Amino acid sequence: MAKVPSLDVFYRARRNARRVVVLTAYDVPSARLAAKGGVDALLVGDSLGQVLLGYDTTLPVTVADMLHHTRAVTRAGTGLPVITDLPYGSFHVDPRQTVEAALTLVREGGAQAVKLEGGRRRADHIAALLDAEIPVMGHLGLTPQSLHRLGGYRVQGRGDRAAAMVEEAQFLAAAGCFAMVLECIPADLATRITEAVDVPTIGIGAGAGCDGQVLVFHDLLGLLADFQPRFVKRYAELGRDAEAAIAGFADEVRRGVFPAQEHTYGEKNGGTAGKKSDGGYLGGLAGEEG
Ligand code: KIV
Repeated sequence: MAKVPSLDVFYRARRNARRVVVLTAYDVPSARLAAKGGVDALLVGDSLGQVLLGYDTTLPVTVADMLHHTRAVTRAGTGLPVITDLPYGSFHVDPRQTVEAALTLVREGGAQAVKLEGGRRRADHIAALLDAEIPVMGHLGLTPQSLHRLGGYRVQGRGDRAAAMVEEAQFLAAAGCFAMVLECIPADLATRITEAVDVPTIGIGAGAGCDGQVLVFHDLLGLLADFQPRFVKRYAELGRDAEAAIAGFADEVRRGVFPAQEHTYGEKNGGTAGKKSDGGYLGGLAGEEG
C-alpha cells in the first residue's frame, strides 16, 4: 500500500528547527517538478485563477475549479502533503457549507488539509472544519480574497495595525490551525507573530523570520514575464526560454528543417519510435509498430 502523505513536516517544524518549503502546484507536471526539487509540501492555491485561468483576481475561482486541480496534483503521486485553498464564497456563509466544500476537496480531491483566508471572523468555520477532522491552515496579511475590502493589493499590518494582526495570529493558533501563511506584511511583524504563536508561520513577502516560505510556481520559475512583485525571487526564466523554444519550432517548420529524419517513421525503422517515458501521452510510444 502507498504511504499516506503526512502533515508531520509542519507538526515537527518547530521541534526540528527546520524551515518548511512550500510551493504551489496545480497539475501533474508542477507537482512532480516541485517534489523532485525537494519541497516539503504542495499548496493548490486559488492563485490558479490568475496564473492558469486568466482571471484578474482569485474571486471567480470555484470549488469545482479547486477540485479539478487538486485531483491532478494528488494524482501526481508525489507522496507530499497537499493543502488546497478554500475558494472565495465557500467559507463565508454557513459553516456546514464550508465543511461540505472542504470534504469535497479532501474526499474527492485527496488533499490532506485546506487553507482559508482570514482570522477571528472565520472562527465558526474553522471550528466546524476541525470537528470534521479536516486540518486547517490559516492565512493572514494580504488576503487576496479580501481585495475589495482592503482597497487593493497592499502591504498589510503596518503601524498601529500590527498589534491586531498579532492577536489574529494568536487566535488562529489557539483555534487549532496547524500552520498559517503570512502574506505581504512587514518582516518585523512577521517575526513578532512567529514568536507569539506555537505553530509554524509560512511567509510570502513577510521576510526571513518565518518558519517557512511559500512561492507561486509560476513566479519562482519566471513563467509570467510581466509580473514581478518585490517579494518574488525568480530562480529561472522559463517564460523567456519557452518563448525562444517555440520560436525555434516555428522557424524550423517554416524552413522545412523539422521534422528531420530521426523524427520520421519509415516502412521499417524498427522499434525506435521513441524513448520510454514515465507516462507521457500515448504511453511513451516506445517501440510502437503497426
Ligand atoms: O493562492 C495562493 O497561491 C496562495 C499563496 C500565495 C500563499 O494563497
